[in-house]
Amino acid sequence: MASKEEVFTGAKDIINQLAVIIRTAAIHDSGNVAVTTAVDKFVVLMNPLIASEGELTLELGGEFFYINETRIRYSLEYLPNFDFLIREFKKRGLGSIVFKGIIKSVDMQTFLKVFISSVFSETPFETLSEDMAGVSSMSVGKLRKVRDEAEGEFDIRREVKKSYFNAVSYTRGVINKIKSGEKVGIKKAKRVVEGMVDLILEEEQLLLGMTAIKDYDEYTYHHSVNVSILSVALGQRLGLSKKILTELGLVALFHDIGKIEIPNEILNKPTNFTDDEWVIMKKHPFWGVRALLKLRGFDATSMRSAIVAFEHHMNYDFSGYPKTRKRFELDFYSKIISLADQYDGMTSSRVYSRIPMSPDRALSLMMERAGTQLDPILFKFFINMIGVFPVGTLVMLDTKELGLVYQSEAMFLDRPKVLVIINGKGEKAESYIVDLTEKDAGGNFLRTIVKTMDPNKYKINLAEYLL
Ligand SMILES: [Fe+2]
Ligand SMILES: [Fe+2]
Repeated sequence: MASKEEVFTGAKDIINQLAVIIRTAAIHDSGNVAVTTAVDKFVVLMNPLIASEGELTLELGGEFFYINETRIRYSLEYLPNFDFLIREFKKRGLGSIVFKGIIKSVDMQTFLKVFISSVFSETPFETLSEDMAGVSSMSVGKLRKVRDEAEGEFDIRREVKKSYFNAVSYTRGVINKIKSGEKVGIKKAKRVVEGMVDLILEEEQLLLGMTAIKDYDEYTYHHSVNVSILSVALGQRLGLSKKILTELGLVALFHDIGKIEIPNEILNKPTNFTDDEWVIMKKHPFWGVRALLKLRGFDATSMRSAIVAFEHHMNYDFSGYPKTRKRFELDFYSKIISLADQYDGMTSSRVYSRIPMSPDRALSLMMERAGTQLDPILFKFFINMIGVFPVGTLVMLDTKELGLVYQSEAMFLDRPKVLVIINGKGEKAESYIVDLTEKDAGGNFLRTIVKTMDPNKYKINLAEYLL
């Protein structure tokens, strides 16, 4: 039998291939060789899995696909196809496809025909479901709504998500180029960061929300982008100009570039580092300087990046590394970026086996460090920005409802919007958003946060709800 891990690896290809056959079938007729080849490939991918699992359910929940309840991770290279498939499923109200036994190419051909034509029906899901009744190896299920959202807000979320993934994808490209010794310039990086700065100025909380989703295959790239977003958002609160914010975002994006020299076996190690491994880890500030000095078109920003790469682990009280003989004033960017870096590092799971810290736990730990390792004034701004209850915090309300902080309100730090996922009766029902600033006729708040809880303990996957 295939292990869950294997299902997981092949799963990405299944989603991708399903998107490919739907795209192909939409432009060619069913007998076309492009369609038949793609369908055959899909069947070859599916059948071994169906055989080993007995039955296979491919389900859409929120913005994610699941195969037999194992969530399929987002993969950057397949992102456009994932997104395409999500939209096509949603258009038809289709929530799942169940493969009940070994499938034949002809079954998939029927599915494709029905799937494509159903979009013209007034009740697409019902049409699809009826027309599939003749195929015994497959059936379809209706889409469950994860939450209700105004269309407008949904569009903004999509926009924010797109620009976030775009930044990650760019970062991956540039890091790999630098790694392979290619000469790169930072002109394009500047454009990517400018886009993010604009979004932060308009949709700060939504973009901060993206940084709360820490569940990705590729930690390094997401970490770089997260640190950049958190730094720019903090800089914005300090009143820095757009030009400076762009520079800060750029510098932040490259703070860990020195890690390209650290072997992957060490970088992705699931257990604690040995002393020898720490010696290597602690060299990444030096290596960062070296990589940045080699950039094409060396300028003041590259210089600033090199300074920050060198200083970002030194700490406010110089208790970190590298050690220097004399103390000096740390670069202002370094102080901002090390806050963002610590917060994102603590709340992320670098490797699958490592459990990330909950946001409020990370903040309280950082609070202890404010004044020693961290700049105390900047930390005040930081905690004000993240909110008393950061996006993604699992909270219990006085109504016994359990939910995730969905959006913070600058005016009412302790009264964010909460996405309730477990209702007052303790049931995992359809989720809904509540606004904690809402009051009843008598002027009393309808709901108040009683305490925060650890989402990992409840096996709650933030990405499923926040993306
Ligand atoms: Fe670092
Ligand atoms: Fe870092």
